Amino acid sequence: MKNITLLGSTGSIGVNALKVLEMYSDQFRVVALGAGRNIERLATQIEQFHPSAVAVQDAETAHQLRELYPDKQACKVLWGNGGFIELATLEETDTVISAMMGAAGLLPTFSAIRAGKNVALANKETMVMAGGLVMAEAKKQGVSLLPIDSEHSAIFQSLQGHLNEDVRRIILTASGGPFRSFSLEQMAQVTPEDALNHPNWLMGPKITIDSATLMNKGLEAIEAKWLFDLHMDQISILVHPQSIVHSMVEYRDGSTIAQLGVPDMMIPIAYALSYPRHLENALPPLDLGSLRTLSFEEPDLDKFKCLSLALKAASTGGTMPAVLNAANEIAVSAFLSRKIGFLAIPDLIERTMEKHAPLPGESIEEVMDADDLARKTAKALLAKHYSG
Ligand SMILES: NC(=O)c1ccc[n+]([C@@H]2O[C@H](COP(=O)([O-])OP(=O)(O)OC[C@H]3O[C@@H](n4cnc5c(N)ncnc54)[C@H](OP(=O)(O)O)[C@@H]3O)[C@@H](O)[C@H]2O)c1
Repeated sequence: MKNITLLGSTGSIGVNALKVLEMYSDQFRVVALGAGRNIERLATQIEQFHPSAVAVQDAETAHQLRELYPDKQACKVLWGNGGFIELATLEETDTVISAMMGAAGLLPTFSAIRAGKNVALANKETMVMAGGLVMAEAKKQGVSLLPIDSEHSAIFQSLQGHLNEDVRRIILTASGGPFRSFSLEQMAQVTPEDALNHPNWLMGPKITIDSATLMNKGLEAIEAKWLFDLHMDQISILVHPQSIVHSMVEYRDGSTIAQLGVPDMMIPIAYALSYPRHLENALPPLDLGSLRTLSFEEPDLDKFKCLSLALKAASTGGTMPAVLNAANEIAVSAFLSRKIGFLAIPDLIERTMEKHAPLPGESIEEVMDADDLARKTAKALLAKHYSG
């Protein structure tokens, strides 16, 4: 029986993770749940999974939750960073599922690793901001850090039984999002509703917008660099609109191993929790016969500028990827609240990056400071260039 702390339980990954944990309740026990502000959903989860502790984003939400959930004695309610860190480091926890959205996931995830917990990682922002520090800590503590992201799960699966030194490159696949065949003129007109309408995956709003701008693929490339100890020039990206080939590894003899599957996050979530076993599920099997076509094309870096900005941040290194990530969070949120247009997302990120003098990023504190400063810069740029 593995004891699980799930951070981000009310989100898209969180809800799918709970389905897996419920399906395999003979193998996993939920000991703690972390969420943001969706206390109605969290209260239902508390009733169903009986965690011994939960944490929410702020004191006010914690107060509201204490009023709402049924059995006040059985479950401790914590809040804020301190609360998430406490859940991530609980003595009884074996594995932390890190599925919060954004930079908020970094400190709890890093604390979990430092406390010797295994981590199943969905929160790619953790790796974008501080992948080198996270991997070094995981190595030091001897914990496993297994990816939930479907592309990284595919790479991880395609590496099994092979030697890392034989890897020539990895190929991350991208659906291309809803605007794959749009012109820049068309992209200038898209609304949040258009961008939230992802062709293949049902995900939280931030990652759905990141998929529409292709920033998501840039963040994933940086995540892959750290997770699999690669140079950026060993990471290629191909647009694959069907989202069936989740990614591939090319070895030095040209042999290419891919992982395929129906696009459903329950598969990589379950694998990260049950590795090396593949657990049974109720999903329909992959029916390649009726799909008929799997197509691949190069991404258009001129049209999808967020992807080139992410690759640029990766090659600059140090604190620049954390700045890219922070500026992107501000830009996506501004787009979702209709303060800026779709094409202003890369514009705001680029301006924020231009104002940053990167530091080596040798400590979590340095990375958090860069994140904080980048948010302030991006908000100031937003007010100066995009208001009214
Ligand atoms: N969805 C996918 O298919 C997918 C695939 C691969 C990787 N990922 C990664 O997984 C992570 C989660 O994605 P998602 O799609 O599940 O996002 P989501 O649906 O928006 O859920 C995010 C979760 O994080 C919580 N949260 C947000 N901001 C928070 C904060 N400041 N403090 C504490 N909790 C906070 C939310 O709480 P409330 O809703 O209660 O406010 C929710 O539980 C992201 O890093 C994403 O890139 C997702």
